[in-house]
Amino acid sequence: MKQKVRSKRKETSMAQREHWTSRFGFVLAAAGSAVGLGNIWKYPHMAGSNGGAAFTVVYLICIAIVGLPIVIGEFVIGRRTQLSPVGAFDTLAPASKWKYVGFLGVASAFVILSFYSVVGGWTLRYTFMALSGNFAELAGNSALSSETFEKFVSSSWNPVFWHLIFMGLCIAIILNGVKSGIERWSKIMMPLILAILVVLVVRGITLPGGMEGVKFLFLPKFSDLTASSIVLALGHAFFTLSLGMGTMITYGSYLERGQNLLSSSLWVVAVDTMIAMLAGVAIFTLVFAMGADPAEGPGLIFVVLPTVFPQMPGGVVWGTMFFFLLFMAALTSAISILEVVTAYFIDQRGWTRARATFIFGSVIGVVGLFCSLSLGGFTDFKTLFNLSFFDFLDYASSKYMLPIGGMLTAIFIMKKWGIPAFLTELHEGIEGKFRIPVRAALVLLSIAAFVVFMIILNEIWAVITGHPLVF
Ligand code: TRP
Repeated sequence: MKQKVRSKRKETSMAQREHWTSRFGFVLAAAGSAVGLGNIWKYPHMAGSNGGAAFTVVYLICIAIVGLPIVIGEFVIGRRTQLSPVGAFDTLAPASKWKYVGFLGVASAFVILSFYSVVGGWTLRYTFMALSGNFAELAGNSALSSETFEKFVSSSWNPVFWHLIFMGLCIAIILNGVKSGIERWSKIMMPLILAILVVLVVRGITLPGGMEGVKFLFLPKFSDLTASSIVLALGHAFFTLSLGMGTMITYGSYLERGQNLLSSSLWVVAVDTMIAMLAGVAIFTLVFAMGADPAEGPGLIFVVLPTVFPQMPGGVVWGTMFFFLLFMAALTSAISILEVVTAYFIDQRGWTRARATFIFGSVIGVVGLFCSLSLGGFTDFKTLFNLSFFDFLDYASSKYMLPIGGMLTAIFIMKKWGIPAFLTELHEGIEGKFRIPVRAALVLLSIAAFVVFMIILNEIWAVITGHPLVF
């Protein structure tokens, strides 16, 4: 009986499943998920504090050998099953425990969106600050800028207000579904992001001294590279490509058959990487031209840049463009995280989209509220490892949940689903004679899984013993 209900539900959801209107729409939506705070906020500050170009080289290698195979894997699982992660694993491996990998993904989505949306709120508030000329008093004064930022994030209602607006926008887009929500807004925002970025890059490299920033980013000095920055680059490859929690499975599940998934995946990865590089150039040319510190760390965007913009002619315009760009990038990523949760309740529980989006968007809004308050606005209660709730969610997801999810996905394809079946699905839509040999796929997926396993082990070891295993 239960089986019957379930298969009926599957039939209806298959029949009504929305699909992307075009390949272009799909690639933009998936690239929209990938391009986010990770590219514009995290990558530049990580490169800045880990030797610049040398870090970039390692990051690119990680993207190619670990990121790309798992992106392809997730898309293929999604398109094959036409279901979001829990249903997808359950269909390919019925009555097994593999569906818990899907549940882990849904849980990760909750965790990530709770803090991601808080930072999304910051970008919105900084856009308005830039627009209203409030950066002027911060010109060249990083102590004041840092104090302003700290005061804002650790106050109670101000950041919560912006977080709730940001979450509200996510809900509004996801309510409209795949075509008129996600795809439509990605088609509007992604080209805008690219256009603004190109303008900022041109502005940056034409500033006197700006080229120093480009050199810093692209001329490697391998002596600057430490082993721990390699681990960092790997973890980041995961985060920036939205891997390990079924985002790409979910987006893949809205694909009709017959599209060349190999080239679509390459496009998504290429756009993501290109935007990270452009963001790096835009930011470091400014930082070098204005004599600011490239190794500032996480404060690079919210602390250093507001001191730099007002020193340039037209600073209000540049500053507003930059933070608006950051806001849009965060929004196209945040919607992809919310869609994982929404799709689970639609596919597996038979809920309507409106109900799933409202209820879980609100729940995440409330969890995010505590996340924001944990930065000092309410109490400074600490969770495990003496981290604030905010840092704890970030830590738990990017160090454990995502890598574990990604590793299990790769293992699932090799051990449970089987590489031949996986390749059959991947090859559908690839014209001509090009076929990936089973052995090559096995080698690539094994390397990806092994490398991720090493990172997780290294982290666990470091927590237990106080110093990392290998690095
Ligand atoms: N990739 C996005 C970024 O770079 C963030 C993101 C969206 C994400 N969906 C995800 C990260 C899923 C991990 C998993 O900002």
